[in-house]
Amino acid sequence: MAIAIRPDIYWIGAIDWGIRDFHGYEIPRGTTYNNYLIVDHEVTLLDTVKYDFAETTIRNIKSLVEPSAIRHVVINHIENDHATSLDRIMGLTPTATIHITERGKKGLERFFDISQWDVKVVKTGDTLTIGKHTLLFIETPMLHWPDSMMTYIKEEKILVSQDGFGQHMASAARFDDEFIHGESVSALEDAVVDYYANILMPFGQIIKTKIAEIQKLGLDIELIAPDHGIVWRQYPQKVIKMYLDMAGGKADLSVSIIYDTMWQGTEIMTVPLAEGIKDEGVECKVIKLRATPISTAVKEFWNSRGCLIGTSTLNNLMLPSVAHFLYQLRGLRPKNRIVGAFGAYGWGGGGVKEAYEEFKKMGLEIVEPGLQVLYRPSPEDETKCYEFGKLFAKKVKEYHSIFH
Ligand code: FEO
Repeated sequence: MAIAIRPDIYWIGAIDWGIRDFHGYEIPRGTTYNNYLIVDHEVTLLDTVKYDFAETTIRNIKSLVEPSAIRHVVINHIENDHATSLDRIMGLTPTATIHITERGKKGLERFFDISQWDVKVVKTGDTLTIGKHTLLFIETPMLHWPDSMMTYIKEEKILVSQDGFGQHMASAARFDDEFIHGESVSALEDAVVDYYANILMPFGQIIKTKIAEIQKLGLDIELIAPDHGIVWRQYPQKVIKMYLDMAGGKADLSVSIIYDTMWQGTEIMTVPLAEGIKDEGVECKVIKLRATPISTAVKEFWNSRGCLIGTSTLNNLMLPSVAHFLYQLRGLRPKNRIVGAFGAYGWGGGGVKEAYEEFKKMGLEIVEPGLQVLYRPSPEDETKCYEFGKLFAKKVKEYHSIFH
């Protein structure tokens, strides 16, 4: 169903209630593929949707205009979840002009025979007047693909932001105020942080630079329409501030203990560790990797200034679940976080040592040495865990103070 986000501007996307695996990124709440139609003198489509949902967006278009009336198709981002139904759309309006960045065009050629279409390359500052509305294109390379751009609708002060400011969340709500009314501010913030941590964490510096560039252009933003999740019509400045804060290194004064265990030895250690951390006045969350989507563990890592990784030793190495988590984390190039490791072992050890090797590859602030116990913690070992928790929390507080 088409939903008006402003007079003559409509959300015509699709809700994917059932998806849980998004190219390996677990999304427990599903997602949406948002795209938008401007019904003006020259009808303009902003983005398409994942190919599975081509029929849905075509049905939504047909509820407003005949698809053959579309004169312009703006492709802000060529990733498969947004551009793979382009050929279905172009089949219905083959003479429409596609507006895309240079790198977007190069990518599009790998998916479609674009020689059949009128493709116009655009760059930052280029505009397109379609009647009452003028579109301004802003390239945002590496946010989060080389081809990415955003489109600003001048008269309505709307930023169509492709993946930026989005959330992987299927919901009956289309707008931020609706969502908050039905759920809560914290649920919405949580979805923003989850998306940022799992997709945009590597690009903090680019985000700061690009937001500064948009502000320098003097663009007044009253509504942000991303390609996933809810549309920001009441709190667009809130999500911009959240992005600037996260890009600037913001984290809670807290510790996430993220662990896995073979025969409970490592798991038992988490309790005195958490007690020691809390007794230093620092909040603590404990996340067991095998019981938690890895994307949630990434989000909790990102929320906290400090993280303790717990792993048993298996064949002189980390547990595979812990190795998987740290491998994924390394790809996200985390910054401004302090880490340590602990775990139980039975023979020669090695899991904790491996965790520190991963930390060093990531260039994180490290508290060494970690803590290892043989098989299962004795009462003396539990005291050592408590003391290590206190020591780690003190280091987290010192490190956290740099950011304030
Ligand atoms: Fe939602 Fe980068 O695609």
